[in-house]
Amino acid sequence: MSSTAETPSADDRVVRLADVRKTYDLGGTVEALAGVSLALAAGSYTAVMGPSGSGKSTLLNLVGALDTPTEGRVTVAGHDVGRDSEAERAGIRGTEIGFVFQTFNLMPRLDAIENVALPLLFDDWPRERRRERTRELLSLVGLGDRRDHRPNELSGGQRQRVAIARALAPDPAVVLADEPTGNIDTETGAEIMGLLDDVNARGNTVLLVTHERTIAEHADRIVHIRDGLIESIEQLDGAGRNA
Ligand SMILES: Nc1ncnc2c1ncn2[C@@H]1O[C@H](COP(=O)(O)OP(=O)(O)OP(=O)(O)O)[C@@H](O)[C@H]1O
Ligand SMILES: [Mg+2]
Repeated sequence: MSSTAETPSADDRVVRLADVRKTYDLGGTVEALAGVSLALAAGSYTAVMGPSGSGKSTLLNLVGALDTPTEGRVTVAGHDVGRDSEAERAGIRGTEIGFVFQTFNLMPRLDAIENVALPLLFDDWPRERRRERTRELLSLVGLGDRRDHRPNELSGGQRQRVAIARALAPDPAVVLADEPTGNIDTETGAEIMGLLDDVNARGNTVLLVTHERTIAEHADRIVHIRDGLIESIEQLDGAGRNA
């Protein structure tokens, strides 16, 4: 799905950043984000590219309610991430955010089914419904026959598939992926990107961070950031997702 209208109503924007600054004080001050404004329409697919240290992960962590802005405003599905308490942000993460990390971040002692079901525990899903949803998701990512495997009994690509299924479990407002192919080979990476494309085609909003142009080209647009600022926003025609 492409980011449909260029002028959607305010409600269509599931994520908004308004003049967001993030500074870290560790002896000296680091300005990781220096005033970023960006909105994500429902169902859109955005990639963020930029040099190492330019603020990509900081941006994703703010949208993911893992952190709060120093200045400016971050809203996700109507929640003001900066104003909400830590407990409220945990709630947002559990219901509105699907996070896919470069290092998978699966629980090593849990099998695939249990890893995918984790977000649903926070959201109080009834046991039967949880099992059903988890099975559906593992089939969706092509792991219907690996449900009982723990992470160390899965390949890197399979682990990332589990992570994508887990990200989708609560039916989040936005799926965030920080270098999702960074730890897997090119061919498997292409499969993972195909899966993320499917996720977006099914209507999920996707925000992806990558160093690789070919990966970024799966999105509808590329936000280029440098030194904590948006340098340019490049609209794509969507041809890259079949590459
Ligand atoms: N928790 C933190 N404490 C202090 N400084 C931080 C912290 N997190 C990030 N930074 C600094 O903020 C800047 C932006 O970091 P960020 O992780 O967002 O970069 P990035 O674009 O994701 O880089 P990479 O491509 O290497 O992952 C860097 O200068 C980094 O050192
Ligand atoms: Mg990073």
